Amino acid sequence: MTPAADPNRVIIFDTTLRDGEQSPGISLNAQEKLEIAQQLARLGVDVIEAGFPISSPGDFEAVQTIARSVEGPVIAGLARAFPGDIDSAWGALKDAQRPRIHTFISTSDIHIKYQMQNTRDDVRGMARAAVAHARSLCEDVEFSPMDATRSDVEFTAEILQIALDEGATTINIPDTVGYALPHEYAAFLTRLYELVPGLHDVVLSTHCHDDLGLAVANSIAGVTAGARQVECAVNGIGERAGNAALEEIIMLIATRADELGVHTGAVTKEIARTSRIVSRLTGYPVQPNKAIIGRNAFAHESGIHQDGVLKERSTFEIMDATSIGLESNQLVLGKHSGRHALQQALSELGYDVSGQTLNQAFKRFKEIADKKKQVTAMDLEALLTDELREQTQGAGYTLEWFDVESSTRRPPHAKVGIRGPEGEELEGSFGGDGPVDAIFHAINVATGVDARLREFHIGAVTGGQDALGETSIVVEVEGRSGSGQAVSTDIVEAAARAYVRALSNAVRRHEGEGAEAALAGTP
Ligand code: KIV
Ligand code: ZN
Repeated sequence: MTPAADPNRVIIFDTTLRDGEQSPGISLNAQEKLEIAQQLARLGVDVIEAGFPISSPGDFEAVQTIARSVEGPVIAGLARAFPGDIDSAWGALKDAQRPRIHTFISTSDIHIKYQMQNTRDDVRGMARAAVAHARSLCEDVEFSPMDATRSDVEFTAEILQIALDEGATTINIPDTVGYALPHEYAAFLTRLYELVPGLHDVVLSTHCHDDLGLAVANSIAGVTAGARQVECAVNGIGERAGNAALEEIIMLIATRADELGVHTGAVTKEIARTSRIVSRLTGYPVQPNKAIIGRNAFAHESGIHQDGVLKERSTFEIMDATSIGLESNQLVLGKHSGRHALQQALSELGYDVSGQTLNQAFKRFKEIADKKKQVTAMDLEALLTDELREQTQGAGYTLEWFDVESSTRRPPHAKVGIRGPEGEELEGSFGGDGPVDAIFHAINVATGVDARLREFHIGAVTGGQDALGETSIVVEVEGRSGSGQAVSTDIVEAAARAYVRALSNAVRRHEGEGAEAALAGTP
C-alpha cells in the first residue's frame, strides 16, 4: 500500500488476531478468528493482521481461511526474517484479494546481543534478504525493526534504507516494550524521516505497546509526526499490557479531528459490537471504566452531570453513544418468531446462516425465548457465537448433562455426563464447596484430566433479571492454560460448559506443545 491519495487518511491496521491473540490464556480456533475478521471487515479496518502462519498449523489454517473468505481489507501475515517464515506466510496468504507479508527483525543492541545472539552485520544481511524474498512473492510488504524505540536511531535508519531499497511498501516502527514517551516517539519518527527521505514515499506506521499506559498517546504522537498507519487491537488486547486500543484510536481521531486534521475509514457504529464479539470469543472482559467501550463510558453517576446532560448532552459528553453503535440493542424477536424471522434477524446482524447451523440456532433461540420475555440483538449475537463455537470446537470434550444438588443443609454434590473426543460416554461425580465447584470436580473425574481453575468470570449479556448469563473460564492442565466461554439462561450450565471447553483447549494446547516449543524468538 503506497501513501493514500488522501494525505490525511490514517490506515487502521488491526492486529487483534496476531498480537492480540498473544495474550495469555487466549486460544481462538480458525472459525472464531474468521468471525472476528468478518466483523473487522464490517468495521471498515484497512488491514487485518490475521496471524503468524509459521507459529502453528492452527494459525496457518486460520490465516488461510481468512485470506480466502474475507473481502475488503488487506490481509497480512507475520513472518520473522527467515525464508521459511516468509514462505509459510505467503502459503497462507496467497489466495487473498489483497495479501501483505509483514516481516520483522530486531534492531536494538539488547535484542541483537542477547536474544538473537548475532551482530548488526547479520541484521543488515537478514533484513535485506527477507524483504527481497517477500517482495519476490508479494507486492505489498511491510517491514518492522523490532524494539525500534530502544535502538540506535542511525542504525535503525540504515536498516530502513535497506528495506526500502529492497521494495518494502510500509515501514512500521514498534515500541515493542512500551517504553517510549509520546514526545520521544514523535521525535524518533521525525529523525527517521530526516535520515531516510525515502520514507516519505511509503506509509510510515506506529505499533505501540501499553506497558506504561501510553500506547494510544504514543500512536497519536506518531500520527502528528507523519505516520499514516496505526497498528492497534480491539479492546487493547495484546502481548503483556496489550497494544494501542483500536476503539480509542478511531474515536480519538474522529472526536479530535479539529486538532489532528486526519481521519480514518472506520464505520464507528460497529465499534461496540466488535468489542463485545472480541471480548466474548477471547474471554477477556472489558473493564467497566474503559474508554469508549466500558459499561460506564457513557453513564453519568453524579446528579450535576445527569442534570447537565438532560438539558444539553454536550455539557458532559464529548461523544454520542449512538456513534459507536451502543443503541443497537433493540428488541428484534419474540417468542412466536419463526425460523425465517430468525434467519433474517441474524442476517441483519451480519451473520449469514443456513442449514444445520440455522437449525441449531433456532433450537437455542426457542429455548431462550421460552425463558426470556425479550430476545435482543445482543442476545442473538451471544447465542450464535456460542453455537458456532460448539460446532467448530474440534475434537474435545462436550458436556451432555449434569445433576447438581445444593443446599445450605447438605454438602453440594454434582454428577456429569461428558462426551469424549472419540465419542465415548463418560460420567463422574464429586462433592465441592458449592454447586459450581462440585461440577468442576465432577468434570475432572469424568475426563480423567486434572484441570486447575485459574480464572472465573460471570457476567450478564444484557440487563434485567432474565438476562442470559455469560461465563468465561481459564484452566491450567500440566502447565498449559486454556480458556473457554459459554452462555445460557442457567448460570451453572454456562459455567459447566465453559469449564469443559477450557479444559479441552488446555489439553489440545498441551498436546501441540512440541510444535510451539520449536518457535524461538517470536515477538
Ligand atoms: O511489538 C512488536 O515489536 C511486534 C512486531 C512483530 C511488529 O509485534
Ligand atoms: Zn507487538
